[in-house]
Amino acid sequence: MARINLKRLKNKAKKEIVKTQNLKELDKLFKKYSGKRGELTSILRSLKEMPKTKRLKVGRQANELKEFLIAQFDKRAKFLKDKSEKESKKKEWIDVTLPGEKILLGHLHPLTQTRRKVEEIFQSLGFSVIEGPEIENEWYNFDTLNIPKDHPARDFWDTLYLKGGGLLRTHTSPVQVRFLEKNKPPLRIIVPGRVFRHEATDASHEINFYQVEGLMVDDKGKISIAHFKAIIEEFFRRFFGKRVKIRLRPSFFPFTEPSFEVDVSCPICGGKGCSACKNSSWIEIMGAGMVHPNVFKNSGLNPKDWQGFAFGMGMDRLAMVKYKINDIRLFYSGDLRFLKQF
Ligand code: DAH
Repeated sequence: MARINLKRLKNKAKKEIVKTQNLKELDKLFKKYSGKRGELTSILRSLKEMPKTKRLKVGRQANELKEFLIAQFDKRAKFLKDKSEKESKKKEWIDVTLPGEKILLGHLHPLTQTRRKVEEIFQSLGFSVIEGPEIENEWYNFDTLNIPKDHPARDFWDTLYLKGGGLLRTHTSPVQVRFLEKNKPPLRIIVPGRVFRHEATDASHEINFYQVEGLMVDDKGKISIAHFKAIIEEFFRRFFGKRVKIRLRPSFFPFTEPSFEVDVSCPICGGKGCSACKNSSWIEIMGAGMVHPNVFKNSGLNPKDWQGFAFGMGMDRLAMVKYKINDIRLFYSGDLRFLKQF
């Protein structure tokens, strides 16, 4: 009886195994035979109730059957797995006509664009572009520029001092002396670069911003304020893309004599009056003057031999006027909604 049962079970299982179409079905089938309540499991469980001779015989046959079934299941499982892999490979299809993913293109920061434009204009006017260190010392940042230690003028520049004696340059003017020490005039340079101030930030002040310094030196008597005016007027005309008027107002800087502030007629309203020029129709844009004799002396040059002009302006301010930006902090915010407009 048991023997017949086992044989029948074997044939039945064999037929059912080859009918399975996927691993899930196969798993279900395996449980039907060898699971906790499986058909073969219950035969094996009933062995202990059989008389000893029968138990030995049926037990051996049932275990053989179990091993046989496991081998059959494994074989079928491997077959089904291969089959499904092949099918999924067949399904994979590449649409070569699909447009590719768009690569996001960035662009230069408005301050970089401004710097490049400034460099381009001055280079075409014969100026070389020079750089200097952002970490300076008191000698170059102040003393050489005729700003003595205890002179109140030093307070014009709210300075960030570094441990160990250095400081972060408060302006690009120290590069005037650094360059004059190593290069004999005649010369024409501009010095674009980053400067630092220890001050509270607001719409027109930042703790770091960009300046561009200018210096033109030649033999005594050759360079005058008239040259300065001509060059700077041409610069503004090209920078703003239209003719603007300039005006010089007497001022004070320790490193120039005479010194003046330079205003441009408001390029935004053209002189009618707007919020950018505070209805004055003029915008203050740079400091300038004729190089002070002490600056030549401190650079190792005889002021009796040389003469020239110098100027310094904020590049952020230039960009703000050109692009009508009302808050300097926007440049450093990293805000893409702002940056994408340029
Ligand atoms: N260094 C000055 C500042 O930071 C700007 C300046 C004024 C530079 C007059 C000059 C100059 O070269 O002649 O405020």
